[in-house]
Amino acid sequence: MARKVSATDKQERRWERNSRLARRVGSALGGPIEREIERRLLRRAWQHFDPERLKGYLVRGYQNPVINVQSILARHELIRELYGDAHDAMMDAELQWAADRHRALRARQHALQKQMGQDYSHVKKTKDWREAYAEVMADQAKFAALWSEALRRPPMRRLAVMEAACGSANDYRFFRTYGLAPLLDYTGFDLTDFNIDNAHQMFPGVDFRIGDVQNIDAADRSYDWTIAHDLLEHLAPAACNRAIDELCRVAGRGVLISFFLMGEHSEHKVQTRRFYHVNNLSRNRIHEQFERHCTDIRWVHVRSFLEQRTGFSGYYNRNAWTLIARR
Ligand SMILES: C[S@@+](CC[C@H](N)C(=O)[O-])C[C@H]1O[C@@H](n2cnc3c(N)ncnc32)[C@H](O)[C@@H]1O
Repeated sequence: MARKVSATDKQERRWERNSRLARRVGSALGGPIEREIERRLLRRAWQHFDPERLKGYLVRGYQNPVINVQSILARHELIRELYGDAHDAMMDAELQWAADRHRALRARQHALQKQMGQDYSHVKKTKDWREAYAEVMADQAKFAALWSEALRRPPMRRLAVMEAACGSANDYRFFRTYGLAPLLDYTGFDLTDFNIDNAHQMFPGVDFRIGDVQNIDAADRSYDWTIAHDLLEHLAPAACNRAIDELCRVAGRGVLISFFLMGEHSEHKVQTRRFYHVNNLSRNRIHEQFERHCTDIRWVHVRSFLEQRTGFSGYYNRNAWTLIARR
């Protein structure tokens, strides 16, 4: 039997049609008008989230930056920039600890799925999962304490870091608790003002601003590193290329990007969701865009990297890649 089309479905389709149309007009006109249309659509896409939800939804479960391997890799890269290889042994220990937590969480998740006859989208909302998570993560403050102690010795120089799409200080919170923040001249920007309000409330005095990655408000090479997690998949392909150009322009030394949906296909698989995209990016295409600006480009396929370094092969996201590109 055909499913009845609800008013909300109709409205969704109208929104999707309208935003596709707006993007077509934008790409025909190009330049600042195309950028402005993309900015407005992206703004609308994120603005409908409740500010409290924005504060919490990307820092729990497997995305919790304490165990999320892409967040850990970003912290390690910055620490390596500051101290060379002095802390490599602790980095290995942290990766092993995180892999062990992932292994235990995946086992608990699968057991609950079997017991409840439900998939993870249901299980993760239950009290049983929250209890299992708390049990596995009982020592989650361990590496914050170890790093805070290790990073007390001042490095030779500070590092200027700009983070695009910083959300509600989602990763910066952990720069603080891990003792990294005092060593950085940090700026975070995000298109969504609720996120920036949240970040200011949590960290008054830190340079959090509203900004658009397509048009970064900073001089060429004015930061040592630019970083971004889980952003580029959400942009239209032309905007994604502009974002890469901008992130590279502003960086004097390097760029670190976390991708959550990427593969070896030759072209981006473009997927629209209402006002924004959830594109399955082509690693080759992204690499080509970075080659315009960077000489040394290193790719980390997160699941394989973790398996090679720790023996754990079941990292929750098989499509996650981190790029570390030096200028
Ligand atoms: C999936 S969230 C990732 C947030 C954070 N980086 C993290 O990993 O937890 C994507 C973020 O990108 C921001 N965003 C979307 N388009 C943007 C743009 N053009 N410029 C800057 N930020 C943007 C959204 O407001 C949202 O906070």
